[in-house]
Amino acid sequence: MKVTVSRRAHFNAAHRLFVKDWSDEKNMEVFGVCSNSNYHGHNYELIVDVTGDVDPITGMVIDLKDLKDIIKGEIEDILDHKNLNLDVDYFNKVVPTAENICIFIWEILRPKIEINKDLEITLYETPRNFVKYNGN
Ligand code: NI
Repeated sequence: MKVTVSRRAHFNAAHRLFVKDWSDEKNMEVFGVCSNSNYHGHNYELIVDVTGDVDPITGMVIDLKDLKDIIKGEIEDILDHKNLNLDVDYFNKVVPTAENICIFIWEILRPKIEINKDLEITLYETPRNFVKYNGN
């Protein structure tokens, strides 16, 4: 019997979407205002889903306190109130789209969650725009 346990988290971060090898015009054409050279911020909402068997003794899939601490230490402390392009090495070479931030978060959290549990990340960049990644 698989159950999904979810934890919601939040961080504010600034970014600019651009490809270094492209002209400003080309970047503007592809990324629109998200390519403005002086950066802009988003209120990111993060949902971490962990799916697995319910432990017959504890009655838990994962201790939500542990999950909360992992998200705080590994994600919020790294990304909150940061300029993703300038402060996070990973986004030196990788465009900090919601898609790539979602993959970044999944890759950090995957080794922290027991391997027999599935992990899915949902990242809201705005209340209406969100992406999901589960490693596939
Ligand atoms: Ni943006």
